[in-house]
Amino acid sequence: MPASRIEYLADHPDLIPTLAEWHHEQFSYLSPGSSVERCAAHLLAQRGRSDIPTTVIALAGDQLLGSASLVTQDMDIRPQLSPWLASVYVAPEYRRRGIGSSLVRRIAGEATALGVERLHLYTPDKESFYLRLGWHTLEHNQYRGHLVAVMALDLVEGPASEPTGGEAGEEADPGR
Ligand SMILES: CC(C)(COP(=O)(O)OP(=O)(O)OC[C@H]1O[C@@H](n2cnc3c(N)ncnc32)[C@H](O)[C@@H]1OP(=O)(O)O)[C@@H](O)C(=O)NCCC(=O)NCCS
Repeated sequence: MPASRIEYLADHPDLIPTLAEWHHEQFSYLSPGSSVERCAAHLLAQRGRSDIPTTVIALAGDQLLGSASLVTQDMDIRPQLSPWLASVYVAPEYRRRGIGSSLVRRIAGEATALGVERLHLYTPDKESFYLRLGWHTLEHNQYRGHLVAVMALDLVEGPASEPTGGEAGEEADPGR
């Protein structure tokens, strides 16, 4: 397989139908009323560049490997939390090669560049994956019939932890 790279979905609209099928198959159990068409419509709406929402994809040559999105809202029982990392997905045959981690870090980087201080996600079964990427758990809760972890990643140092003495503090290095 050629080396993988991450690009904006906005530059590859032809890949939306494939990605929509993958997302529907993987995530529809958490989205009542989901369909491939609705997933495609969401992806169309979430194809910003350096913006919220945005979706990034992992590619090797022309082969789509996976995706991740940065969205304003992803959990209707926690409307006060925003923005969210959502729809992290790597096709089964390309997993356990670091691609999912790279997608998560890229979205954290996109959020940091936009001045976001805290990113959120929920996950039914990948809590340990995100813990290893520097995220922490805010709560466990029932959501749409599943026990999920609501997690956060702090992207910038708060004022209380900035060094004294007038020197510029180091920027946080999210998820690494
Ligand atoms: C979760 C998901 C995105 C991870 O994608 P991935 O590409 O396999 O992610 P990575 O390769 O970066 O990491 C996965 C594991 O492989 C390990 N790994 C990474 N590179 C590896 C390598 N070269 N050799 C062996 N293991 C490796 C990582 O340490 C990680 O271990 P952990 O799960 O115990 O933390 C993928 O499993 C997926 O799409 N699952 C279905 C959808 C889903 O659940 N998405 C999350 C919604 S919250």
